[in-house]
Amino acid sequence: VQVKKELDKLLLTAPANEVESVRTEFNGFEKLFQRYLSPDNSAEFKWQNIEPLPKEAIVTYNSTINNSLSFENIRANLNKLIVIKLNGGLGTSMGCKGPKSTITVRDDLTFLDLIIRQLENINLAYNVNVPLVLMNSFNTDEETNKVINKYNHIKVKIYTFNQSRYPRVDKDNLLPIAKTAGYDSDVESWYPPGHGDIYESFYNSGLLQMFINEGKEYVFVSNSDNLGATVDMNILNFLLNPPNNNKSPEFLMEVTDKTRADVKGGTLINYQGKLRLLEIAQVPKENVDEFKSVSKFKIFNTNNLWINLKAMQRVIEEESLHMEIIVNNKTTDKGVNVIQLETASGAAIKSFNGAIGINVPRSRFLPVKTTSDLLLIMSNLYTQKKGLLEMNPLRSFPSVPLVKLGSGFTKVNEFLKRFGSIPDCLELDHLTVSGDVTFGKSVILRGTVIIIANHGDRIDIPSGSILENKIVSGNLRI
Ligand code: UTP
Repeated sequence: VQVKKELDKLLLTAPANEVESVRTEFNGFEKLFQRYLSPDNSAEFKWQNIEPLPKEAIVTYNSTINNSLSFENIRANLNKLIVIKLNGGLGTSMGCKGPKSTITVRDDLTFLDLIIRQLENINLAYNVNVPLVLMNSFNTDEETNKVINKYNHIKVKIYTFNQSRYPRVDKDNLLPIAKTAGYDSDVESWYPPGHGDIYESFYNSGLLQMFINEGKEYVFVSNSDNLGATVDMNILNFLLNPPNNNKSPEFLMEVTDKTRADVKGGTLINYQGKLRLLEIAQVPKENVDEFKSVSKFKIFNTNNLWINLKAMQRVIEEESLHMEIIVNNKTTDKGVNVIQLETASGAAIKSFNGAIGINVPRSRFLPVKTTSDLLLIMSNLYTQKKGLLEMNPLRSFPSVPLVKLGSGFTKVNEFLKRFGSIPDCLELDHLTVSGDVTFGKSVILRGTVIIIANHGDRIDIPSGSILENKIVSGNLRI
């Protein structure tokens, strides 16, 4: 009740032309907040109630491959597709200002450039107009709209919509910390409530209805920082023309085999007869090791999702869409402890009929979360053509090296300063770098390389060095 009063007061401070949209957002927030406070929400997830996944819950990618698809078949399928990229996030974790998708990642191209090239290539090759839709947040909208202006002449129609802006609440009294509600009010008082917000926001934007009216049937949703999330013709055809006259799944989640590098990723489970996404945050402490085990939970969610548009509309209108609440604790710059309630888009899987997973090749999951990922993406481990990144065929084994760069490399501009040029990583398995380390030009890294500069020391790897299965530490070279 107290929160409602505070929200009503805040609403009065919104400028007249923003009142309606702020009110819609507040309604969404109130629903989420009520669920958070309700006793049902705290009902512990029962670990022992997890059942093994039925065999049919996850199809193999190979079973969707159809080599007899004609140009016309593919064209007809593409005409029913739209692509949404989740673009609400900032590049702060990599030390960049602005939307993460505007960071330059390869060949002077940003994530957005690469995404648009990929789609332009498909639109040209099949003479179709698959639209690109960006879900922005109040953090990314202005900047994104500025940069997409330069794509006016390209054969990709770009739409944007804004996800909601919810008020952060003080952890102690659970009241909003915002003093005014206008969109130019203190950014620290607001947050984008996770990518699970896509359903409501897309619906509220009117775009969902518009695309349904245009005859579009499926949306392919993915993280804008996943460079492997390309439009896949086999998956699309599997959805639109399912084998054996089966019903089309309303929701398809791309999962991939877990390696020791991705033990924290969400996994699919069978729970109370439904396919559900289980995130690490929902796992009881004593079961976390089991959750991380590669043998018990073999796959994880790539967040590449294919969703039927009419089904999306239905679950919103029937209010049957349900996603678990993720509570994110933060401290503002002013030192106030706040909580923000979020949801994850993949968690909606349980609200759709005939939802399944598809086990896709690792290449469809190529996220850039840190500069360690960036090192590999920029290196000769990959080749880039028409926006598509592929592992260099010269690499003799398909696994991706494990790279751990220390804190001196976290920010992109510092990372770039530390490399004369990006080292040759074609035969690298494992790289750990810690402390004040720089690399000259044309360095070659092979096998396992560990470079550790102790506090106060600095290690400069000379240009042209070949480091193969080497540990470099201080002046000691082994
Ligand atoms: P995240 O920041 O959630 O990355 O952004 P993550 O935690 O590694 O990935 P998940 O959540 O497990 O998949 C993932 C994508 O979602 C967008 C980001 O811009 C990024 O592309 N995002 C995130 C939004 O669009 N809105 C949000 O509120 C949060």
